[in-house]
Amino acid sequence: MADKELILITGAAGKLGAVGRTVTGLLLDRGLPVRAMVRREDERAAALRAAGAEVVVGDLLEPADVYRVVSGCRRVYFGMSVSAGYLEATMTMAAVAREVEVNALVNMSQMTVSEMSIQNTTPSPQQRQHWLSEQALAWSGLPVVTIRPTVFLEGFFLPLTGPSVRDRGRIELPFGRGKTSPVTTADVARVIAAVLADPGPHLGRIYELTGPRSQDMHGVAREYSDALNREITYSDIPPEDWERELKRAGLPEYLTRHLVTMAELNRAGRYDRMADGVERVTGRPAMSVREFVSLHADEFGGRRS
Ligand SMILES: NC(=O)c1ccc[n+]([C@@H]2O[C@H](COP(=O)([O-])OP(=O)(O)OC[C@H]3O[C@@H](n4cnc5c(N)ncnc54)[C@H](OP(=O)(O)O)[C@@H]3O)[C@@H](O)[C@H]2O)c1
Repeated sequence: MADKELILITGAAGKLGAVGRTVTGLLLDRGLPVRAMVRREDERAAALRAAGAEVVVGDLLEPADVYRVVSGCRRVYFGMSVSAGYLEATMTMAAVAREVEVNALVNMSQMTVSEMSIQNTTPSPQQRQHWLSEQALAWSGLPVVTIRPTVFLEGFFLPLTGPSVRDRGRIELPFGRGKTSPVTTADVARVIAAVLADPGPHLGRIYELTGPRSQDMHGVAREYSDALNREITYSDIPPEDWERELKRAGLPEYLTRHLVTMAELNRAGRYDRMADGVERVTGRPAMSVREFVSLHADEFGGRRS
């Protein structure tokens, strides 16, 4: 039966709230068969297995591993951590997907690609790799669905503003007066699960995903305040201080360059964007910052009663 085709999810281990992990759960909830690809056997792999996924271990940079994990699957979600080998992994997946003749390849990208061209790239190596990957996938003739989310609430705002909100009641970021419209990975995963459950109508499409509002960081801070029932303010910190903090925290150079570029683009107003992909695909509007912070109140230092 077409709707019982085995679905491969790459990058499935992730942290709680990461895209591949959440998509795996949503597909299993729908009763669909999922093969979850992880990099190593650990407690996250065991949890995926306990939830009902077939767990396979492999490296997305190893063609033989990718062939082994894709074989037998007709639908694939491709996504992995921000890293230097991203384009190579995408091309390896594309070569294998052509060989195996998959029916749908759902490719994780970034919304910044919508604004990029040969004459107008960005200094982020990750954004360049997504831009190149999208083009090569278009040339490949594969049945691709492209997912272009803006910045994630789980993957960016929670880890990078949680500690200062908890300790000082402040969002400390070098975003100037730029507006932003962050989206939850929960919503991104809902879109991807809906596409994988019934790819036909989506093939060839590009879905841009944002939250429901684009606002400056003072507006974002007001949503934090409403959710936590205490005053949270925005402090526009110097970009050099932020970069120094990221390095001190031990982030890899590649990821730091990506984050520093994101901040630069935010200050330049390039994250001021709105798209309705979440509602168009899932029939439900995207979650707001306020709803997200309410759901994760403990991680932001708790809600005052
Ligand atoms: N964060 C944002 O704000 C944002 C916004 C828009 C788009 N995106 C895009 O979203 C994607 C990241 O999604 P995410 O945050 O859900 O991912 P993630 O949790 O950072 O990574 C998913 C998994 O990829 C695995 N992985 C890394 N290298 C691998 C390899 N060589 N072989 C096999 N597995 C490998 C990691 O395994 P281990 O855990 O074992 O290391 C990790 O569990 C990227 O494409 C990024 O550009 C992010």
